[in-house]
Amino acid sequence: MPISNPERYTVTAALIYANGPIHIGHLAGCYVPADIYVRYLRASGKEVAFISGTDEHGVPITIRAKKEGLTPQQVVDKYYEQIDASFKSLGISFDVYSRTSKPIHHETSREIFRDLYDKKVFVEETTEQYYDETAQQFLADRYIVGTCPVCANPNAYGDQCERCGSTLSPLELKDPRSTLSGAKPVLKATKNWYLPLNKMQPDIEAYVNGHSEWKTNVFGQCQSWLKDGLKPRAMTRDLDWGIKVPVEDTEGKVLYVWFEAPIGYISATKDWLIQKNGTDEGWKKWWQPTNGGGETKLVHFIGKDNIVFHCIIFPAMLMAEGNYILADNVPANEFMNLEGDKISTSRNWAVWLHEYLEELPDKQDVLRYVLTANAPETKDSEFTWKDFQTRNNSELVGIYGNFINRAVVLTQKFCEGKVPQRGELQEIDQAALNDLAAFPARIAESMENYRFREALSLIMDLARTGNKYLADTQPWHVIKTDPERVNTILNIALQISATLSIVSEPVLPFTAAKIQEQLGLSGKNWQDAGNADLLPAGQPVLEGKLLFEKIEDSLIEKQVQKLHDAKRLNELEGKTVAPVKPEIQFEDFGKMDIRIATILEAENVPKSKKLLKLLIDIGSEQRTVLSGISEHFKAEEVIGKKVLYLANLAPRKMMGMESQGMILMAEDRDGSLAFVQPGKDVWNGGTVN
Ligand code: MF3
Ligand code: ZN
Repeated sequence: MPISNPERYTVTAALIYANGPIHIGHLAGCYVPADIYVRYLRASGKEVAFISGTDEHGVPITIRAKKEGLTPQQVVDKYYEQIDASFKSLGISFDVYSRTSKPIHHETSREIFRDLYDKKVFVEETTEQYYDETAQQFLADRYIVGTCPVCANPNAYGDQCERCGSTLSPLELKDPRSTLSGAKPVLKATKNWYLPLNKMQPDIEAYVNGHSEWKTNVFGQCQSWLKDGLKPRAMTRDLDWGIKVPVEDTEGKVLYVWFEAPIGYISATKDWLIQKNGTDEGWKKWWQPTNGGGETKLVHFIGKDNIVFHCIIFPAMLMAEGNYILADNVPANEFMNLEGDKISTSRNWAVWLHEYLEELPDKQDVLRYVLTANAPETKDSEFTWKDFQTRNNSELVGIYGNFINRAVVLTQKFCEGKVPQRGELQEIDQAALNDLAAFPARIAESMENYRFREALSLIMDLARTGNKYLADTQPWHVIKTDPERVNTILNIALQISATLSIVSEPVLPFTAAKIQEQLGLSGKNWQDAGNADLLPAGQPVLEGKLLFEKIEDSLIEKQVQKLHDAKRLNELEGKTVAPVKPEIQFEDFGKMDIRIATILEAENVPKSKKLLKLLIDIGSEQRTVLSGISEHFKAEEVIGKKVLYLANLAPRKMMGMESQGMILMAEDRDGSLAFVQPGKDVWNGGTVN
């Protein structure tokens, strides 16, 4: 059962691996909704701790270090700084942004591990794991590649084949090799400590089933894990980057990153208090039942790939410890795609936050807006630059900005830049004020239920209400005949603006601050929203800069081009020379008849995108070859070229024609083709041996 009337809230946002920059997928999945929720709670006068930081251990960090030629420590230092700075400039209002490399975190994790160890919660088990004798270390799954038992992909990882998508274990790979040294790994016995999730299943089931109010995607994923039956999971790993296991004789072992990272929420809370007060005193009220001090509601914001860890494994750890509260909700989002493709760091298909902030300065709220309007709350969604432009131009500029701007500018023009006095109300005025009064509670209800898209669409409806009110009452006409009436109209328009600034602050904090400065509104919170007298008559209204600007096509085109360029560059960098094929004997080579030929004629094959039909002179005769090169060369370009020709390849039928033999081409790094030609004008039919 969800907690209905908490005394305070502990809100966490996933501790992201400090192994790369933040992209819009992270923001849409986790950080923007978390920030909206927290800002809403604070505006409602609730006591909140908003906790996050970086996850600095685990294999993802060491892999990145290897790739960048840095030490793991250098990697996490570099990305911590970058991530922290970019979150701040997007206005993500963490109370603390900590790091799992801090001593307070090492201490806290080791204490909890040791406590569970002493309570005999863990099961000790010795298993055989792959070990690299050259590198002298046990190999994490990601450090082993081999042939996939399902699809024969020779480069499958120890945990997964990226070609066929199968989940694997290292022992299933054929011909395993270590990516550290290339050596063939050997099996070696090692002892680790397992959390017996199988034994804990009934308790976990009771916990999860008590939360049928969780989002369908979250609840469903938990049910499917439970249905498959939980299995013991190792909480220690043979690695050297991480937190040392607090047990004697465990050299070379560290705590499993998914054991300690979520504990990072607890240690970050302590870190926050230490930074603020010099001591972590008081941390418990955020994490443990208080004795008569009211309930604490714990909410984890995460992306969908983290669900099992937050809904099953972390709660299981905390239950075993016994002193902690469990998450009341885990409103995980699905994924956001980008321009028709999955966001991918490794393929460099992403909009990076630090680049966005540099290239589109002062557009933080536009990004927050678009990511919320399009949030992948119930299913995957998609970011496109075109949509970004449309939402900015027609919604933020056209509706929201337009309304506020008109209210302010008309006040300058007709009311000497001061909030005018309201006179007698007409029906249309009363209706507008009634609407105004009703909106905040509706928006709050969406916020409370983690439906931020819906909240935002209600916020925009309020702006539409304001626009419609001005359009219907037409103060710019009425001014000629009835200035008193205009006072009433603009008073109401300004009161709507004031409430709009309060209720949109969680999504658009920068914009809300600008509006409140213009209106001279301060110290008001959610309880004041909807009130028709937020702005006293006579209060100055300042002329402001436009809140939003139109975005031109050229900017959008540049961003789309940039995406494609970055991906292409990444592909080129990632290209490696193909490994040499398995050995053959001289007789095998001798079977091939390769000779010199000249292209006499060339034409496009109708209805084929790739094929050119070539007539070639091979000395003894002329032959027809269909060659898949028309995306690289025009027919007229190839006529007269000398080529290498494989003469005794069995003929093949293509597009209803027979192709005899094959011409040989060299393929460059970027996939372009080049002719391979003899160093002098060798006669047609000359052999290549
Ligand atoms: N580091 C993980 C990721 O980036 C998230 C860890 S969340 C925590 O996917 F709970 F473990 F902290
Ligand atoms: Zn496979």
